Amino acid sequence: MQKKIKILQRPRRNRKNAAIRSLVRETRLAAADFVMPLFVIEGDRKRQAVISMPGIEKLSIDLLVKEAKEVYQLGIPAVALFPNLGNALKDKTASESTNSKGLMQRCIQALKQTVPELLVITDVAMDPYSSDGHDGVVKKGKIHNDETLPILAAMAVSQAKAGADIVAPSDMMDGRVGYIREALDNEGFLDVGILAYTAKYCSAFYGPFRDALGSAPRSGDKKSYQMDPANVREAIREARLDVEEGADMIMVKPAHTYLDVIKVLKAVVDVPVAAYHVSGEYAMIKAAAEKGWLDEERAVEEVLTAIKRAGADIIFSYFAKDFARRIHARRC
Ligand code: PBG
Repeated sequence: MQKKIKILQRPRRNRKNAAIRSLVRETRLAAADFVMPLFVIEGDRKRQAVISMPGIEKLSIDLLVKEAKEVYQLGIPAVALFPNLGNALKDKTASESTNSKGLMQRCIQALKQTVPELLVITDVAMDPYSSDGHDGVVKKGKIHNDETLPILAAMAVSQAKAGADIVAPSDMMDGRVGYIREALDNEGFLDVGILAYTAKYCSAFYGPFRDALGSAPRSGDKKSYQMDPANVREAIREARLDVEEGADMIMVKPAHTYLDVIKVLKAVVDVPVAAYHVSGEYAMIKAAAEKGWLDEERAVEEVLTAIKRAGADIIFSYFAKDFARRIHARRC
């Protein structure tokens, strides 16, 4: 017979079945935690697959509206819009970004007319509109910070006029949050919020997104404005500045590879912290699952839980819709 062993603390008791695990679970994901990013294109009844993001399609406005309704019905409170423009509309100053009849503006209006309760978050950055594929004005190979700010502010105001609820500067120029806040306030958009992409790292994981939008830099890289993946104290500095300048929420991006940054920023600010599970992080899981190397559903749940456990209040993820569907289908 096995000798009796005296163990007073047996943590496994709290794991012995699904009910008790549910009772003691510390982190729970809900549809309400998510923002669904959506890619939009011109046209009617048009959908275009994003090759490097299996399951994700670029949608024309009519289909965007249908998709947004489904997203909202699943309990996801917000979408983030990203326009895919033809090269003919791109120039050095992103002038299409302030066209009141531009693709982005028409998308916002259509969503606000048809699903008014759904929050519309818009990206404020030059890259989808820029012939240089950069987030700032490029002159002789350099990114000009202060010349970029009025362009970003005009873009944000134009999106607010179209009905955007929250503008999300993702450009990483210095001083942009304060500059955009002032421009919005001057135009009377006191209720339009700013979600600052505060700690946006210069990451290889944006690759599939840039494929989707054709927005990769035509020359050079984004290292002079996006953050060095090696740094975390610098993220604290960025967070402090963004909050001082009036950010209503801040973001860490990417998410999975930057859980430590999420955790640190959550501790040092008193505004909500978002995390963006980006295109390459989505593609990695999809690709491994397609090969049969990972169980997609389990991997997705684990990663998204980790992002929330690290401290994210809001999660941008291309898995949001699928995942919300699964949450609704189960008991605990
Ligand atoms: C634009 C922007 C990018 C992403 C969101 N907004 C790309 C970039 O900075 O190059 C990436 C999102 C993703 O990879 O899912 N400034």
